[in-house]
Amino acid sequence: MDKCKQVYEYIWNRVQRGEWQEHDKLPSVRMLAEELNVHRLTVFKAYQQLKDEKKVYVKDKSGYYVHPGMTMPFDDLDYPIVSSYVQKSHLSEIHRVPAAYQFSYALIDPNLLPNRYFSEYAKEIFDRYPKVLSTYSTIQGDEELRETLSRFFTNKHQFHLTADDILITSGSQQAIDILARMLVQPMDAVLLERPTYSAAIDIFRQQGAQIIPVDIHPYGYDLEQVESYMKQFKPRFFYLNPTFHNPTGYTVPAEQRKQLVELAERYRCFLLEDDPFRDIYFDREPPPPLFAYGTEGYVVYIRSFSKYVAPGLRIAAVCSQPSLMKHLFTVKSLADNGTPLLNQKIFLHYFMSKRLQQHIKKLRIALNVRKSIMEEELSGTNWTWDSPAGGLNLWVKLPASISMDMLLAKSIEQSISFVPGSICDPSKEAKSWIRLSYSYINEHQLSAGMKKLIRLSEQLDPP
Ligand SMILES: Cc1ncc(COP(=O)(O)O)c(C=O)c1O
Repeated sequence: MDKCKQVYEYIWNRVQRGEWQEHDKLPSVRMLAEELNVHRLTVFKAYQQLKDEKKVYVKDKSGYYVHPGMTMPFDDLDYPIVSSYVQKSHLSEIHRVPAAYQFSYALIDPNLLPNRYFSEYAKEIFDRYPKVLSTYSTIQGDEELRETLSRFFTNKHQFHLTADDILITSGSQQAIDILARMLVQPMDAVLLERPTYSAAIDIFRQQGAQIIPVDIHPYGYDLEQVESYMKQFKPRFFYLNPTFHNPTGYTVPAEQRKQLVELAERYRCFLLEDDPFRDIYFDREPPPPLFAYGTEGYVVYIRSFSKYVAPGLRIAAVCSQPSLMKHLFTVKSLADNGTPLLNQKIFLHYFMSKRLQQHIKKLRIALNVRKSIMEEELSGTNWTWDSPAGGLNLWVKLPASISMDMLLAKSIEQSISFVPGSICDPSKEAKSWIRLSYSYINEHQLSAGMKKLIRLSEQLDPP
């Protein structure tokens, strides 16, 4: 995208979001040029284009103003002071829709987690640390937990780090948000996989990033494309989920991981490696994290434990080099002054237990069974997908004759929900793809729900 187009998009997005309302005076050409670090002529051209399209108007040579009728309506928010700052969270909107057949939650069925034992761990924590509720955690996270995780990462993945290189966050969602606040200024280029985790798109957009999509394939990325984007756009980072990727389930092979880290180091582009599904493999452990290949500190590793340990505890770890870590503290302290200590201690003791090891083995089997049931139900259709070797989702392509929007609308009426592929695509183009999660509902419901969904699709596209 050329610079003028980027400035145009930046102004237009803010108008649409209602940050600048109708008849509001827009920032002067000089101010905007300084804010966005571009030439005044670039801003002038962007304003002229908006004027030609009747999105803004000029008044008495005093500047540019928002044309009436341009701001997006906010259905359920009456207060302009609130609505002017509201962003979209597409995934949470889908999750809000009540459904008996929940294929949109990439979460483990609560019945597959060892709930009875959690209460024992919670009780044990109060006995061991009687003052656990009477104190804050440090901002960086409980030292005992960080020590334990640094040993775990070193033994398991040969990471070179100490407890000082780890920050505990409230889930990886918070980690992504903190990193985005720390690293992105409006108009900064960032690379994102296409498709990707939809909430990550929303977070980076909220910071005003210019998103450059990089296609992910069953074999990984086209590294020549990645290199040319790193050269051309000088992105701040590449956010990626290379292991049992959400939504596709693809895993980037070890050889590419090494090459990708070399590219990142050559072009000084951070890799934000989001790794919440690593432990949910069916046959074989996936290749080591990108972080294990890094020597110059360009990989930031985000490891959530929500998906299989205990989602309710909201525990994730961010591993990074010291110069980034000090800025991460600042942003984390502004966000919440530290993740609750009680959650960290319960997590720590459960994470270290034999029970977790037994649980994860059984969980892998249970999830593999559910995946097979979903695939079995789909086998009679002409929908296509690559069977994932781990993770929680199938990324399914519908035949061109089925409209995904229609199928979603009909499904919601029948109490079935799934994630429309378009919200996982930074360019919103994946119109014939859907994400179906097999992890949340039990085998019986899964089978019944899939039959219903397929029947609905046949009504839209009779054989
Ligand atoms: C790729 C990816 N990153 C981050 C998250 C958020 O995880 P957490 O529960 O740790 O915030 C998810 C949740 O589905 C995810 O799929």
